[in-house]
Amino acid sequence: MFELVVATNNAHKVKEYQEMFSGYDIKFYSMKDLGIVCNPEENGKTYEENSLIKASALAKLTKLPVIADDSGLNVVALNNFPGIYSSRYADSYGGNKVANLELIKKLKPYEDKSAFFACLITLMNVEEKPVQFKGICRGKILDKPVGEGGFGYDPIFYSEEAKIAFGEASPEIKNKYSHRAKAVSQLIEYLKNKRLIELVNEK
Ligand code: IMP
Repeated sequence: MFELVVATNNAHKVKEYQEMFSGYDIKFYSMKDLGIVCNPEENGKTYEENSLIKASALAKLTKLPVIADDSGLNVVALNNFPGIYSSRYADSYGGNKVANLELIKKLKPYEDKSAFFACLITLMNVEEKPVQFKGICRGKILDKPVGEGGFGYDPIFYSEEAKIAFGEASPEIKNKYSHRAKAVSQLIEYLKNKRLIELVNEK
């Protein structure tokens, strides 16, 4: 069984990873599961840098393979804002309910509503060097929030590929088209090619 630590204390995130790898002989742990405390400052300028900062800090504290992810929403007309500041932008308005409306307002003067979610996963303690995987999910910002599903910026994001707003998409649809799903599928391919994991149970 391949064991991997996720640079998070969020049990939900670990459960999501475990689900995305369903059928594979892999076991995910949170830092909390292993009693690891690690909270580096995310002062990078890109998803690549921030994800690497988190993975490197954790990789020093365990011999197990580790992954760290960093993700966010990029609005093209706003020079990819909020981008790596997605979570901080939402916090500055006390959460996404208000932040989503503010983002729509900010984008009002622009005709171009295109946006994309990005997810960057860094894997360490497998190769000598870190390995990174990037997933992108393209779409546009809606005029008003819709649906009750998902989290964060999902209610204001319409996915071009899924042809539905993420706020209205089922978890199955979101897990097929999301930026995270795309980065994870690259990670799965990589680990399979390295013969570190294999499918033991067909879904
Ligand atoms: P994190 O790097 O995974 O913690 O994500 C940073 C922030 O980006 C989150 O707090 C959300 O606001 C936003 N975000 C990332 N992924 C998604 C998504 O799939 N849907 C909606 N918002 C997201």
